[in-house]
Amino acid sequence: MKTAVVLGTRPEIIKMSPVIRELERRQEDYFILHTGQHYSYNLDRVFFEQLKLPQSKYNLEVGSGSHAEQTGRILIGVEKVLLDENPDIVLVEGDTNSVLAGALAATKLCVKVGHVEAGMRSYDRSMPEEINRILTDHCSDYLFASTEKAKRILLGEGVPENKIFVTGSTIVDALFQNLEIAKSSPDFEPRTLNLEPKNYLLATLHRQENVDNKHRFASILEGLERVVDEFRLPIIYPIHPRSRKMIGRFGLKPKNLNLIEPLSFLGFLQLENNARLILTDSGGVQQEACIMRVPCVTLRDNTEWVETLEVGSNILAGSSPDKIVGCTRLMLDSQSNWTNPFGNGQAGQRIVVALLEERASGFAC
Ligand code: UD1
Ligand code: UDP
Repeated sequence: MKTAVVLGTRPEIIKMSPVIRELERRQEDYFILHTGQHYSYNLDRVFFEQLKLPQSKYNLEVGSGSHAEQTGRILIGVEKVLLDENPDIVLVEGDTNSVLAGALAATKLCVKVGHVEAGMRSYDRSMPEEINRILTDHCSDYLFASTEKAKRILLGEGVPENKIFVTGSTIVDALFQNLEIAKSSPDFEPRTLNLEPKNYLLATLHRQENVDNKHRFASILEGLERVVDEFRLPIIYPIHPRSRKMIGRFGLKPKNLNLIEPLSFLGFLQLENNARLILTDSGGVQQEACIMRVPCVTLRDNTEWVETLEVGSNILAGSSPDKIVGCTRLMLDSQSNWTNPFGNGQAGQRIVVALLEERASGFAC
């Protein structure tokens, strides 16, 4: 079975790493096609190095641009590579422009598509990620759902049951495979950032709907500043370049927030694991907080990771400063005794096994 693993951004590299490891372990025929959507060292290369992933065979170097420009360039580039390589299957994971364009290019060539993290829905179509998820699910042949709930969503949208595989989430695999390594790396101690374990808060914020809107971004930053004042806990915020750019463009001046460059995965895992609480709009970080039993306040009006709300690890605060402070107070008082709903760290293996079985019964178009 020849597999093309298409990825392009920080979360895709991290979450696809367990699948890549499994393909390596089985000495399967595969290659990595990097779209180049993320290209800064600390959003891209650092993860290949730290997770010891093989080099991408191709990098399309599409870079940044409008949605149409970026998606269009990826479509054109992926199609060329697929025509040359003729793989049996293209694997994509998540909801970025790289995912949608990779899946679309493949399905138009009658190459089978496997979508990892299928069936997630925020039911907010103003988010580019929601459009990407829906379209990718509906052009995929194999839908790897993280949970039974995601499977039910897909069934409700008319996806045939035999295309859906509940595997758990590969982020659990990535976390289990790396947390102990992170803990035993003294370089990554929060103390090197002058933070005391369980005595600081960690924030990330980068989603388009939050940071491309001046009023909303300013309101969330005000909420974070008020959290620092109210609870006397420092906030450390490894800032995504998109958010850094928009802070400059809008002339915002966050006060009392400790802004640092984006971190490596091991460094970030350490900071998450030792945080008293996490405030975020990231999908992956909501999950990781839940798995590590660190309470989470989500700076969005909705989430596709509803399981985190159900188990009580997460709460939706939106963008109002009052609500951000109130939700932080609630979550600081929470018990952190929930059970991780995203599986046991075997998702990468399950995905590869499912594909090999499908291959054995003939991948017909
Ligand atoms: C993308 C995904 C988002 C995901 C995020 C993960 C889409 C529509 N969005 O958002 O779902 O949560 O990745 O981090 O696919 N930039 C750099 N260096 C880079 C990449 C980007 O400086 O390596 C800056 C550029 O100014 C660029 C901006 O970040 O314009 C946004 O990058 P882009 O790839 O368009 O979207 P993300 O915000 O990263
Ligand atoms: N992450 C990281 N360094 C950072 C911030 C995040 O390694 O400074 C990791 C985090 O552990 C998670 C992933 O990036 O695995 C989440 O990616 P991001 O928030 O960019 O995207 P999203 O999940 O929202 O699509």
